[in-house]
Amino acid sequence: MTRLSDSPERYGPVSRTLHWGMAALFAAQFVSAAAHWALPRENALRETLWGYHANLGATLFLLVLLRGVWGLMNMKQRPTHSGKMGQAAVAGHVALYALMVIVPAVRLLAAAGGTRGFSYFGIPIFPAHETAIAWTQIAAEWHGEMGWALALLVLGHIAVATIWHGAIQRDNTLGRMAR
Ligand code: HEM
Ligand code: HEM
Repeated sequence: MTRLSDSPERYGPVSRTLHWGMAALFAAQFVSAAAHWALPRENALRETLWGYHANLGATLFLLVLLRGVWGLMNMKQRPTHSGKMGQAAVAGHVALYALMVIVPAVRLLAAAGGTRGFSYFGIPIFPAHETAIAWTQIAAEWHGEMGWALALLVLGHIAVATIWHGAIQRDNTLGRMAR
């Protein structure tokens, strides 16, 4: 166990940096999606915010893989969750992870088999196909819906962390991720 690792009392600096850094990036990602959904097509703000959606989404995909590997490496020494509420917390975290992986993955798969190709910050990753590979496009049809489901789950997560643990129970749950 190193200074960087998690311990049963608190998440370590790597986990906390990933958690709060990704929370900020997810906020920006949901802002771009909300503008895409709410503003008219030719709106300049919508265009600007949409300009980073794919690159930031691919970045979040890489970060969640890194975070998952780090979480698994720290599994035995992370803060534990006991009782019925604890089981619900673990289920909530697993659902967050599942959507954090699936939401960008289905769009990246569609880009890999699509007609437009995909570049990551200008670096070509997937070439354009003349005709789209049909099966790669199927799951991406629910990308937006699953993205909004993730947004709702995140709102629930924030409410439980701040209202239930922070204001009602006043336990150390916030502290072990915050400090
Ligand atoms: C965790 C990362 C991501 C989240 C949370 C996310 C979220 C969303 C949401 C909520 C929408 C619906 C917007 C609307 O209703 O107008 C959306 C649409 C879209 N996203 Fe993402 N996205 C992510 C990653 C990506 C990636 C990596 C790509 C491209 C490679 C991408 C490309 C698109 C496109 C083209 C649309 C419009 C078409 C559609 O709704 O499927 N997204 N995204
Ligand atoms: C203001 C925003 C947020 C607050 C106050 C917050 C608070 C917390 C706290 C206190 C924990 C520790 C819970 C425990 O040990 O039981 C935690 C863990 C976690 N949070 Fe958040 N969170 C926020 C945003 C987010 C966002 C945006 C995501 C994902 C999109 C997220 C995903 C997770 C996950 C997956 C865990 C489990 C531990 C891990 O593997 O990192 N959180 N959060």
